[in-house]
Amino acid sequence: MSLTRFRLSSSVGKKFLNGLTGVLLLAFIVAHLAGNLTIFAGQDALNGYAALTHSLGPMLIVIELLLGAVFLAHAASAISVWRDGQRARRRKNLRTASKGGSSRQTVASKSMIATGVVLLGFLVIHLWQFRFGPNEHQGYVARLGDREVWDLWRVVVEVLKNPLWTLFYTAVMVLLGLHLRHGFWSAFQSIGLLGPGLRPLAYSAALVFAVAVAAGFVALPLYIYFLVPTPATGVALVHP
Ligand code: HEM
Repeated sequence: MSLTRFRLSSSVGKKFLNGLTGVLLLAFIVAHLAGNLTIFAGQDALNGYAALTHSLGPMLIVIELLLGAVFLAHAASAISVWRDGQRARRRKNLRTASKGGSSRQTVASKSMIATGVVLLGFLVIHLWQFRFGPNEHQGYVARLGDREVWDLWRVVVEVLKNPLWTLFYTAVMVLLGLHLRHGFWSAFQSIGLLGPGLRPLAYSAALVFAVAVAAGFVALPLYIYFLVPTPATGVALVHP
């Protein structure tokens, strides 16, 4: 690939950036789901996991800033590619876009911008609720062996015991599955890792991946809502 084709402002460059950041976010989603699955093992397991990640100190802040940059680059490149497509379609007066190569038009592919925007909005609410939710200074402290740690379990359970938030999380996780159903194979295609021979396999793998990840994430709010006892501290619509 020539340097001209690789310019980030070119349509190939934007597609590549979107694919590369998409692959990084796929890795994050898998790691995040794995960490969240500790919820099924109970309060100590989730709090222990949070204590471990937060023990990284300043390194965690650096990772979080990089992750934030990846999310923003992914969203910005996606919107830019989409707007280029809209403009080109208007110019050529075409009713449907043909992106060249494999151009399967599915509900998932047609709703990528819509599901992406919902996920971005979700992320703002999600970080405010959990990452920047109440901490030790507001009394969210639990014992873990002989240590006192941040009671992330209480933060999460108080939120997800609220039926409105459970509904919200469940619905958004279904949309996440829809986003991943197209995003998974499309990301690898955009960075040039899918030759024609691999495409059918990647397409099926995307379906398995999207269903597995969405099912894992959907199971979390439903498990907390239906099976975890309501904490004595109650249920939160909005945390302090
Ligand atoms: C049911 C679904 C989910 C649950 C229960 C959940 C739970 C959590 C919890 C407990 C934290 C706080 C971790 C900490 O500060 O140590 C967190 C952080 C975070 N979550 Fe989620 N999450 C869910 C879905 C998602 C999804 C779908 C995304 C991405 C689209 C996402 C992105 C993030 C990010 C970026 C952070 C901040 C990570 C950090 O700063 O270390 N989460 N989540």
